[in-house]
Amino acid sequence: DPLGINYMLGCQLLEPGAKSIAEFLYREEGLNKTAIGEFLGEREELHLQTLKAFVELHQFSNLNLVQALRQFLWSFRLPGEAQKIDRMMEAFATRYCNCNAPVFQSTDTCYILSFAIIMLNTSLHNPNVKDKTTLERFISMNRGINNGGDLPVPLLTKLYDSIRNEPFKIPEDDGNDLTHTFFNPDREGWLLKLGGRVKTWKRRWFILTDNCLYYFEYTADKEPRGIIPLENLCVKEVHYPRKPYCLEMTNPNSRGQRIKACKTETDGRVVEGKHQSYTICAASADERDSWIEAIRASITRDPFYDLVSLRKKKIINQGNQD
Ligand SMILES: *[C@@H]1O[C@H](CO)[C@@H](O)[C@H](O)[C@H]1NC(C)=O
Ligand SMILES: *[C@@H]1O[C@H](CO)[C@@H](O)[C@H](O)[C@H]1NC(C)=O
Repeated sequence: DPLGINYMLGCQLLEPGAKSIAEFLYREEGLNKTAIGEFLGEREELHLQTLKAFVELHQFSNLNLVQALRQFLWSFRLPGEAQKIDRMMEAFATRYCNCNAPVFQSTDTCYILSFAIIMLNTSLHNPNVKDKTTLERFISMNRGINNGGDLPVPLLTKLYDSIRNEPFKIPEDDGNDLTHTFFNPDREGWLLKLGGRVKTWKRRWFILTDNCLYYFEYTADKEPRGIIPLENLCVKEVHYPRKPYCLEMTNPNSRGQRIKACKTETDGRVVEGKHQSYTICAASADERDSWIEAIRASITRDPFYDLVSLRKKKIINQGNQD
């Protein structure tokens, strides 16, 4: 009971029910905002109701979407799980649209744009992201999201400028923001890779980016020897004789089948990979663990993309039917 809710209910300092709990979470100063996020993210009925009431306490009328998001994301700390974030952002989008009826064609539009803005914040302000989103790219990313139509360019420009001039603040910012969720922590380095057919170890330069693992023979090579798309894979530590710091990537849904990947033969032909699993070996336990963490971060960001792309499809289909 990190927020003291049960205690206060017990002493009758707080009336039971979602409304009064939401008021307490919204108005009480000094509460732990991570704990508020955890409370609001739970799936039980009381928590769902409290989330709804909590979001309704926010006044978003006449605020642009960035101003509203600033307020919302400051009132608690978003938890890390996709389903929780989905519920919270859905509640936010519904509330925003109720407060600002004519701005967006639907809640989905508002939801998608909110995610785009959070990603823009990371792209513009996180020093690890090298490829900064331009206004033009931001506008083109959001084509067709208003039920098949485009949002007005002046609106998108205003939101873009607002984020560029001032990053989002989130409470209890320990540097572990949604960056991990949306962007691959780029990582590169030498690792040993076990052959697919011939079980020999080859030293390769690995680069993790764009949800793929690329490996090269030399750091300066332009063309990779192989590309492993990380979609659907899972990664774990594995013990291999005389190689203590190994990790293994497999597809848990289709064991025994080849992993979709490609490699370049020595004569330059690009062929399908022959691996049912990939075994890679690092030079130390620390290195192995950071690779596992980075690969995992890169795999688990997928659910979020899925959430957003699902809504985009929905909206674009609706737009086509009109
Ligand atoms: C806030 O709550 C979270 C989760 O309940 C906890 O991990 C964290 O240590 C708390 N922070 C402080 C400053 O008490
Ligand atoms: C926005 O970016 C800043 C700088 O990287 C970061 O501290 C903050 O947590 C980000 N906000 C969100 C909502 O991701």
